[in-house]
Amino acid sequence: MSAVTTRKDGDVLVVSANNPPVNALGHAVRAGLEAAVKAAAADSGVSAIVIRCEGRTFFAGADITEFGKPPQAPGLPDVCDLIEQSSKPVVAAIHGTALGGGLEVALGCHYRIAVPTAKLGLPEVKLGLLPGAGGTQRLPRVAGVADALPMIVFGDPVSAKKAESIGLVDRIAGEDSLEADAIAFAREIAKKTPLPVSSARTDKIEAAKADAGVFERFVTENARKLRGLDAPAACIEAVRAAVDLSYAEGVKKEREVFFKLLTGNQSKALRHVFFAERAAAKIDGIPADTPVLPIKKVGMLGAGTMGGGITMNFLSAGIPVTIVEREQAALDRGVSIIRKNYENTAKKGRITAEQVEKAMSLLTPTLDFNALADSDLVIEAVFENMDIKRDVFRRLDATIKPGAILASNTSYLNVDEMAAETKRPESVIGLHFFSPANVMKLLEVVRGAKTSPAVLKTSMELARKIGKVAVVSGVCPGFIGNRMLSQRQAQAQALILEGAKPWDVDRVLTQFGFPMGPFQMSDLAGLDIGWSAETSKSESVRDVLCERGRRGQKTGKGFYDYDENRKSSPSPETEAIIADFIAKSGKQQRAVSDEEILERLLYPMVNEGAKILEEKMAQRASDIDIVWLNGYGWPAYTGGPMFWADTVGLDKIAAALGKYGVEVAPLLKAKAEKGESFN
Ligand code: 3HC
Ligand code: NAI
Repeated sequence: MSAVTTRKDGDVLVVSANNPPVNALGHAVRAGLEAAVKAAAADSGVSAIVIRCEGRTFFAGADITEFGKPPQAPGLPDVCDLIEQSSKPVVAAIHGTALGGGLEVALGCHYRIAVPTAKLGLPEVKLGLLPGAGGTQRLPRVAGVADALPMIVFGDPVSAKKAESIGLVDRIAGEDSLEADAIAFAREIAKKTPLPVSSARTDKIEAAKADAGVFERFVTENARKLRGLDAPAACIEAVRAAVDLSYAEGVKKEREVFFKLLTGNQSKALRHVFFAERAAAKIDGIPADTPVLPIKKVGMLGAGTMGGGITMNFLSAGIPVTIVEREQAALDRGVSIIRKNYENTAKKGRITAEQVEKAMSLLTPTLDFNALADSDLVIEAVFENMDIKRDVFRRLDATIKPGAILASNTSYLNVDEMAAETKRPESVIGLHFFSPANVMKLLEVVRGAKTSPAVLKTSMELARKIGKVAVVSGVCPGFIGNRMLSQRQAQAQALILEGAKPWDVDRVLTQFGFPMGPFQMSDLAGLDIGWSAETSKSESVRDVLCERGRRGQKTGKGFYDYDENRKSSPSPETEAIIADFIAKSGKQQRAVSDEEILERLLYPMVNEGAKILEEKMAQRASDIDIVWLNGYGWPAYTGGPMFWADTVGLDKIAAALGKYGVEVAPLLKAKAEKGESFN
C-alpha cells in the first residue's frame, strides 16, 4: 500500500498517510503529501483539503533513521511551505501524537482539529536538535512566545485542550469521529477568506517584541536544566529570531542551526539514546510467541528503603501490593514513609489527595508471610545477605502459588543460588531497582540460568507498565551497573591515595556532566553504610572518617565539611587523614591532572563494559549505555559509556589503560586493533 492515498468526500480531498508504526515523515510520505496537495490545486472539484493519518497516530516526526543520510527531495520544509501556500484551505486532523515534523506539517496547514486525547509537541530538543521545518518560526506566531518557548526548549508535548487554549488547535473533534468532523470543518471554512497563514501572522509575537527581557529571563530561570546542552540554547536563539527577524530570515537561521546541531556530537549521542532505549526493551533469544503472565497482585517482602520505594511503583500503577515485614515497628515505619512520600508529591500539586488515598487503599501491610501466597509476583528486598536470601527463597517456594514469579532485588548476590533453593528455578528472576526506587527510571532485569522466557518477558512488560526503563542483565556480581561502578570507585580511592583531592575528583566528573562525583555521593548516602564501629580498624580513609564521626551530610561532615544549609567545602581534616595514609604507605603525594582523573575514572568502566559484553552479561553495548544513563546520571548528551568510548576512540582508551596498569579486556583490545567500535 502506498504511503499516502487520497479520496474525495464531495468537494473535500481527504489525504491519508499510512506509514506504520508512527507515520514518520520519511521520503515516501513527503512525496505523497506533495503530490496530493499539487493534485488538489489542479482539481476544480476540490475546495478544501484534510490531512490525516491511519493507524495509531498523526505524524510523530521526521524519520530519524534518515538523519545523516543524503537528503531526498522534497524536504520537509518544502512540503510544509507547499501546504501553507495552497490557495485551498488545508485542515490537519490530529489523533495520537503530532510531534516534531508532524506538528510542523500541522502548523503549515491553515487549520488544526484534534481529538481530546491527542498530544502536540516539538520534542526535537530531546534529540539534540531544534525543529527544522519552520517549527521555531511558526509556533511562536500561532501560539505566542510565552507558550511556544517552553514547548520548543524542553520538548514536552501539550494536551489537545491546552493546545486549543493557546490557539494551536482551532477545534476539538469527537474522540471517535475525527475524520467526519474534520471534513465537516473543512467544508465550513472552505469559503472563508483570507486563509490564516501561520508564517504571515504577527499578532501573537507582539507581546514578546514589546518585552525586551523575555529571553534573558527564561535563560536565567532555567539555567540549571540547560547546563551542558547545545540544543536548548539554539532553540532559544531561533525563537528570538522569530520575534526579531522576518519569517524568511528566521527560517534561514533555523535551517543553519538545525544542520549544525544535526552533525554535532550531542545530537548523534542523543539519537543513539533514542534507539538504544527502544532496543533495550527487546529480548534476544526468546520465541516471539512467548506468553506474558498476568500480574494482578504483587507481594513485597521487606519494607525498608527499597521495599517501600518498589511498592510505590505498583500502587501508582493501580496494582495492589501486600507488604510483609518481620516486626510491626519496621512495617509501620515503611508504610508511613510511603504515605509521606505520596503526601509530599500531592503538596507539590503533582497528584491529588484522592490519588494518595487511592494508592494507599491498594496497600495491605501485614506480618503474615502466608498473606503473600496468592501473589502473581513476589519481590524480596530483605537484607543483602546470602543466608537470609536463601532462607527467604525456600519459604517463598513452599508458600507462593505455582506459576508466580519469585524475584530478588539484590544488588550484588547470585540469583541462581537463590533459585537453586526452590523447586521452580524457572520462576526466579532478579529485579534490581535503584534508589530511590519510586523515582529512578532504571530496572535491571536479571536473567538467571534457568529463568523461563515467559518470566523474563513478563518482567520486561511489567517494567514498562510501571514506567521503568528495563535492561536485561546476566548473573554476575553487581550485574551491569554496579559492576562497572566498582571499577570507578576503586580508581577514585586510588587517585586520592596518590595525591588527587576528593573535590578535584568530584569536580572533574561534574564538569563531564554527572550530577555529582563519587565523594559527594558517598557523603550523601552516608559513609557508614556497611561500616561497623565495633569492627572498624582504621584500615581505610572511610574507616577513619567514620570513626571520627565524619559520616556524611547527615552528621554535617564526611569527605567534605557542611554548613547549616548543607553547602559543602573542602575539609582540611579529611585532607590530613588522606595525607597520613599516603605517608604511611611510603609514597609521595603527586599532582594529578584533570585529564588523568577523567581517564582513570571512566576508561576502566569502559573496559569492564567490554568484559560484560564479552561474557554476554549484557545483550548489546547500547544496553550498557541505557543502564548508566538511567541509573547513575551519566550525561545523555555523551550517549553513555560505550557510545562515548567510540567517540573517544577505542585505540586511545586501550593505550591509556595500559599506561595506567589496567589489564585491557580482550574484546576492547581486539576492537581497538581492528579500528572497530562498540556500536
Ligand atoms: N523516526 C523513525 N522511527 C521512529 C520515530 C521517528 N520519528 N518515532 C518512533 N520511531 C520508531 C521507534 O524507533 C520504534 O521502532 P522499533 O519498533 O523498531 O523499536 C517504533 O517507531 C515505535 O516507537 P515507540 O516504541 O517509541 O512507540 P511508542 O508508542 O512508545 O511511542 C512515540 C510513540 C510517542 C511517537 C515515540 O515513538 C516518539 O516519541 N517518537 C519520536 C518523536 C520525535 O522525536 N519526533 C521528532 C523527530 S525529529 C524531527 O521531526 C525533525 C524535524 O523538526 C525536521
Ligand atoms: P533495608 O535495611 O532498608 O531494608 C530491609 C528490610 O527488610 C528491613 O526493614 C528488615 O526488617 C526487612 N527484613 C529483613 N529480613 C526479613 C524477612 N525475613 N522478612 C521480612 N522482612 C525482612 O535495606 P534496603 O536498602 O531496602 O535493601 C534491601 C535489598 O535491596 C538488599 O538486597 C539491597 O542490596 C538491595 N538494594 C538496595 C539498594 C539501596 O540503595 N539501598 C539499591 C538496590 C538494591
